[in-house]
Amino acid sequence: PKERGWRTPHLYLYQNFWCQPKEIQAIIATQQHFQATDTDIILATIPKSGTTWLTALAFAIVNRKRFTVPEKHPLLTSNPHDLVPFLEYKLYANNQLPHLSGLPSPRIFATHVPFASMPESMKMSNCRIVYLCRNPFDTFISSWHFLLNVRPENLGPFSIEEGFDMFCRGLVGFGPFWEHMLGYWEESCQSPHKVLFLKYEDMKEDIIFHLKRLAKFLGFPFTLEEERVGVVEEISRLCSFEILKELEVNKTGKSIANFENKSLFRKGGVGDWVNHLSPLMVEQLSQVWKKS
Ligand code: A3P
Repeated sequence: PKERGWRTPHLYLYQNFWCQPKEIQAIIATQQHFQATDTDIILATIPKSGTTWLTALAFAIVNRKRFTVPEKHPLLTSNPHDLVPFLEYKLYANNQLPHLSGLPSPRIFATHVPFASMPESMKMSNCRIVYLCRNPFDTFISSWHFLLNVRPENLGPFSIEEGFDMFCRGLVGFGPFWEHMLGYWEESCQSPHKVLFLKYEDMKEDIIFHLKRLAKFLGFPFTLEEERVGVVEEISRLCSFEILKELEVNKTGKSIANFENKSLFRKGGVGDWVNHLSPLMVEQLSQVWKKS
C-alpha cells in the first residue's frame, strides 16, 4: 500500500512501517549485507527524537581516551552524523555496499530501522542497541518544523492540521511512532543487556545520571577518577544542544541525505508542543497514544 508522504509524494508500507522508496531500498540492502559484530553499537530512533544528540554522546563516551585534548575534539569540527554514519542514509544509501571491516572498534552506527526489520545478524550477535524515545507531542512538532525546511516546494503547502492527522494515523517516516517505540521497548524488557531504552525527557532532566548509565551499558563505564575530575560533565557539555548548535560545522554543510546541518538543531527542549497544538489535537493524540 502507498499513502501521501510528507517529504516525497508517497510513503510505502514495508514490513508494517511507512518509508520512502529510497529508504526501503537501503533497508533491504542493510538486511541483506550488514554483518553485525559483537562489539558493534547501534543507535536507534524514530526521526526527530534526538538522534543527533545520542550519536554525539555515544561517540564522545566511547572515544574519550582517543581524544584527550578538549579543543581538538572531532565533535567541534564534524557534525555527529559524519562521525557516526547512518545505515540507511549513508552506508547503504543509493545502492552502495560499503566496506566496514576497516572501521575502528567499536563501530557505531545510527539507524531509524524498526527492531523487527533489523538485519538478522544484529539480532543474533551480542551487539548493543540503544533506543532513544521522545514524547510523541514534541516528536511531531519537531518533525513538523523540520519538514517546513526540507519539503520540496513542488509538493505544495502542507498545513499543521494535515501533518498532525497523518502523524496520528502513523503516516510518518518509519511510523507508526507507537509501533516503532514498542518494538524496541519490548526487546529492552526481554533482553536488557542488549537493548537500552532511553527517554529524551529523562536525559534532559538529568544528563549526568543517564550519561553514566549509557557509558556502563556500552561497556565503557566512567572510573571514579574520571568522575572526580569532571569527565562526565565535560562530555555532557560538549554534546549539549547549546554548544553543538553554535558550532560553525553545524550551521553550514550537509551531513545526512542532503539536509542542511542547521535543520537538525532547532530548540532542543521539552514541551514546545504547548505552543503549537490546539486542545483538540492534544486530546486526539492522547487518545491515539492510549489505544496503542
Ligand atoms: P526540536 O525540533 O524540538 O528542537 P534528530 O536528531 O533525531 O533529528 O532530532 C532533532 C531534535 O533534537 C530537534 O528537536 C533538535 O533541536 C534536538 N536536538 C539536536 N541536538 C540536540 C542536543 N544536543 N541536545 C538536545 N536536543 C537536541
